[in-house]
Amino acid sequence: MNKILRKEVLSTGIKLIEVEAVEIARKTKPGHFVVIRIEEKGERIPLTIADYDTEKGTLTIVFQEVGFTTERLGKLEPGDTFLDVVGPMGKPTRIEKFGVVVCIGGGVGIAPVYPIARQLKNAGNKILSIIGARSHEFLFWEERTRGVSDEIHVCTDDGSYGRKGFVTDELKVILEKNEGIDLVIAIGPVVMMKAVSLLTKPYGIKTTVSLNPIMVDATGMCGSCRVTVGGKTKFACVDGPEFDGHEVNFDELLSRQQIYLEEEKLIHKKL
Ligand SMILES: Cc1cc2nc3c(=O)[nH]c(=O)nc-3n(C[C@H](O)[C@H](O)[C@H](O)COP(=O)(O)OP(=O)(O)OC[C@H]3O[C@@H](n4cnc5c(N)ncnc54)[C@H](O)[C@@H]3O)c2cc1C
Ligand code: FES
Repeated sequence: MNKILRKEVLSTGIKLIEVEAVEIARKTKPGHFVVIRIEEKGERIPLTIADYDTEKGTLTIVFQEVGFTTERLGKLEPGDTFLDVVGPMGKPTRIEKFGVVVCIGGGVGIAPVYPIARQLKNAGNKILSIIGARSHEFLFWEERTRGVSDEIHVCTDDGSYGRKGFVTDELKVILEKNEGIDLVIAIGPVVMMKAVSLLTKPYGIKTTVSLNPIMVDATGMCGSCRVTVGGKTKFACVDGPEFDGHEVNFDELLSRQQIYLEEEKLIHKKL
């Protein structure tokens, strides 16, 4: 059992939970994720570790309420418990001095990119952050992201805050200025990560994306998280979740994410 110590509503439909997980917190590095199960008959869902405190022995997860389990999660309060939290899972982000790194977070992806930007900044990189959301009400962690960035660019699709447009519009401006970008890291919706990768490819700038296929066991055994990268089959849970964006077959990922759409709708009708 893992006890919830803190809960925050960050923006519309996006919540933060800080949960006790002493052993996992001790081993966590940026880029890792956990698999949580709320109750015995509950589904196991993967969530990225958005922050961790080794002294307190806690993990912070930030999630968007998109379906049955994340909505159940959103109803929990401090003092409630998860049945189990398994992790840290996946390969951590490669942290070294690359030079100038653009860190892009779209929607709920603003949370997982934060610890990566912080660690890359600590490693001596210049961090240019771009964060974006559909509109102002879905935006969060602007100040937190600013605190680990040399520059921050904020945008909303509808122009209700920051620059009007997509994160790729901001990225385009930065790329055209030719500031000598060494690495781009993008986390967010698959369409966004695809658009970022298409944009950086002609410039030959290494681009890392964090993939979110459907995961079941998260141990490399069931194959549900398989993705095609550079023409080869990879399992995002053990080989990723970060991959070279220029090599990912995003269209296949988009269609595989829809596989259980009917079942996901059905559970809402049944309950
Ligand atoms: C490595 C990884 C890290 C992730 N980190 C975060 C995060 O930090 N914050 C966040 O909000 N979301 C994250 N996700 C996505 C999150 O796991 C799904 O939103 C969640 O499982 C949806 O479950 P649900 O029952 O609420 O919704 P459902 O109605 O069951 O599904 C809604 C959509 O979520 C996706 N999904 C459903 N089940 C799974 C599953 N078992 N594994 C992966 N995707 C699924 C599908 O695309 C589906 O169409 C991550 C996914 C992966 C693979
Ligand atoms: S989730 Fe089963 S192999 Fe990755």
